[in-house]
Amino acid sequence: MIPAFLFLTLALYALTGSAGILGNRNSLVARAGSLTQIEDFGSNPTDVGMYIYVPTNLASSPGIVVAIHYCTGTGPEYYSATPYATLAEEYGFIVIYPSSPYDGTCWDVSSESTLTHNGGGNSNSIANMVTYTIDKYNADSSKVFVTGSSSGAMMTNVMAATYPELFAAGTVYSGVAAGCFYSASNQVDAWNSSCAQGDVITTPEHWASIAEAMDSGYSGTRPKMQIYHGSIDTTLYPPNYNETCKQWAGVFGYDFSAPEKKEANTPETNYETTIWGDNLQGIFATGVGHTVPIHGDKDMEWFGFA
Ligand SMILES: *[C@@H]1O[C@H](CO)[C@@H](O)[C@H](O)[C@H]1NC(C)=O
Ligand SMILES: *[C@@H]1O[C@H](CO)[C@@H](O)[C@H](O)[C@H]1NC(C)=O
Repeated sequence: MIPAFLFLTLALYALTGSAGILGNRNSLVARAGSLTQIEDFGSNPTDVGMYIYVPTNLASSPGIVVAIHYCTGTGPEYYSATPYATLAEEYGFIVIYPSSPYDGTCWDVSSESTLTHNGGGNSNSIANMVTYTIDKYNADSSKVFVTGSSSGAMMTNVMAATYPELFAAGTVYSGVAAGCFYSASNQVDAWNSSCAQGDVITTPEHWASIAEAMDSGYSGTRPKMQIYHGSIDTTLYPPNYNETCKQWAGVFGYDFSAPEKKEANTPETNYETTIWGDNLQGIFATGVGHTVPIHGDKDMEWFGFA
């Protein structure tokens, strides 16, 4: 039998996560903080849910990562299924997990209101979560980042276009260009099959003008973007990869057809990284479907934490 004092010591050892014998420091440290729902973060006309993870290891002027879920997901599910809370404990940033208000829990990336800066749609609510968090935690407004998967990846592009002043960088896991899911009848939360199937093809200049119109008159800095997509994606077809890269190439003034370099088998076998410049990278994953798995460590590098 293990004496009580020894048992306690072992239990504490496990809880603090300093026990090398357990091997997996992160899984123990990861959820030391707790996920909290915030009811009142400011104006929220479309009733988007807000969840926040504040790490126990909070930095003194913390960064913020907004992590946006896929259709059928929720903020709490994305918290459980992704590495960001674990990484928050390591690097000291806060994670915001918005939660879609609609049946099926896709994001509204189709209506005029969400595709407009301060238009009162989902994007406006998420931006208000960011400003609330900056104020409340004295966060570093130059270290705010956005990422998401699938519908959340579409919303990542929409956030980058509607609130370029808020974000320093974004990572997009299998989405579509901002405005590609546009609803001609101005429906909220509409599915756009022609975009999903990869039939909306246009020029970098046109894509850039669509993104820029979402915050017209803005001429400040914009988030640098990293775009992941899989070659066998049958939900948001592979042409959406180039269309998204074209959009940000157009915005940043890169020549889409003449990238700076391509790196085979980067960041892993069968992935190809294309670099247009400091502000844009595309990562095309051959043999990968919907969605490309989150590369948390690469995100930390892209966001400048690692
Ligand atoms: C789908 O989006 C494209 C733009 O990406 C737009 O031209 C088309 O009208 C949209 N389809 C519907 C049904 O609204
Ligand atoms: C993207 O564009 C490049 C350059 O035009 C082309 O070689 C590549 O096949 C395209 N990729 C997809 C997924 O359409």
